[in-house]
Amino acid sequence: MTEKLGSAPHGGVLINRVLPSEARGEAQARAARLPVLNVNARAASDLLLLATGAFSPLEGFMGHDAARSAAENLTLPDGLLWPLPVLLQLEASQAAFSPGSVVALAYRGTLLGALEVQERFTVPGKKWAREVFQTADEAHPGVAAFLTGGDVALAGPIRWFGDASVLGVGEHWRTPAETRAEMARRGWQTVAGFQTRNPIHRAHEYVLRTVLEVMDGLLLHPLVGETRPEDLSADLRLRCYQALLDHYLPQDRVLFSVLPAWMRYGGPREAVFHALVRKNFGCTHFIVGRDHAGVGKYYGPYDAHRLLKTLASDGLGVQPLFFDEVYYCRRCGSLASQRSCGHGPEDRLTLSGTEVRRRLREGLPLPVEFTRPEVAAVLAEAFGAKGGVAHV
Ligand code: ADX
Repeated sequence: MTEKLGSAPHGGVLINRVLPSEARGEAQARAARLPVLNVNARAASDLLLLATGAFSPLEGFMGHDAARSAAENLTLPDGLLWPLPVLLQLEASQAAFSPGSVVALAYRGTLLGALEVQERFTVPGKKWAREVFQTADEAHPGVAAFLTGGDVALAGPIRWFGDASVLGVGEHWRTPAETRAEMARRGWQTVAGFQTRNPIHRAHEYVLRTVLEVMDGLLLHPLVGETRPEDLSADLRLRCYQALLDHYLPQDRVLFSVLPAWMRYGGPREAVFHALVRKNFGCTHFIVGRDHAGVGKYYGPYDAHRLLKTLASDGLGVQPLFFDEVYYCRRCGSLASQRSCGHGPEDRLTLSGTEVRRRLREGLPLPVEFTRPEVAAVLAEAFGAKGGVAHV
């Protein structure tokens, strides 16, 4: 089989900390005799992604020096690019384990894996928040999760012997190894990854189509871990993506799978993280549009482009595909961006996520210029709205 171009995992080796199925029963029996730490949904999803190599080269929750290096320099201590800490944060009372101990990790009462505790440290919350998120403002949802997530961190290598369905990942979950195998089976040499946390709209679709024109394949990879309460549920979003796939996209050129990561809303830093994670899933390219992983007004719309450009020669190892803001242009009669359309702002239609949610809550239809009718129908049904087709 020909090796795919440039799709080596970050750091060169795809980490695998998942016990083979024949060893799981015994590992669970042993874990039942260990002290058990019940972790939250964010830590459980990090555990699964660490174990399956999505966060290669990490083999476990990061220690102080690695996390500080990531926060301050965007690298691991050995110089490999890594843009943010991946921590097992706990309240001090929960984290009373000393280095050398082994702790079983459970989520919602089900054992998932184990942590070999190598280090226990106090998290310099505000300092690292300012470095990673460029703010320590608790109105920022990622900062809030970080600052309220626990003042103490336990670090060390992990093992997974659980069942991913406890995390609600469903049938669309594929590990990085499984995703890579499927890409190889399809004979793809160039694959673009697409991260999303919103119901799919036509600006997304335009970006996907543009990329499909020049790539062998596309990994449509919505993030389905924890998001803000006001974002739409993962289940509903998945039905929207499926509607677009069923009715509009070439199924053999799109691999639809999910990323059970939680959203950090970390703007440029998270864009780098998203790119490296998709590299581990086998992507050679990664799409970065307007305000990638942004929230509110914390980041400029193209800050992520700027950061990724500066890192392209620093071992990123996955080619970013940058997109300017895509809108519907009434004069062109199509989706476009200012890179391809010569008309002015007065001819443009854009809808923010907030506006989409308002329309859905109020039972108003979404314009066809913005949302495909099949996708709008899924959303309208979920919101108990009448649906129907509107134009701008
Ligand atoms: S994100 O938090 O996952 O980035 P979202 O699902 O809205 O949010 O975006 C998915 C990807 O599409 C991101 O790369 C984002 O920058 C890009 N994107 C979203 N809307 C637009 C748009 N109107 N124009 C260009 N790119 C966009």
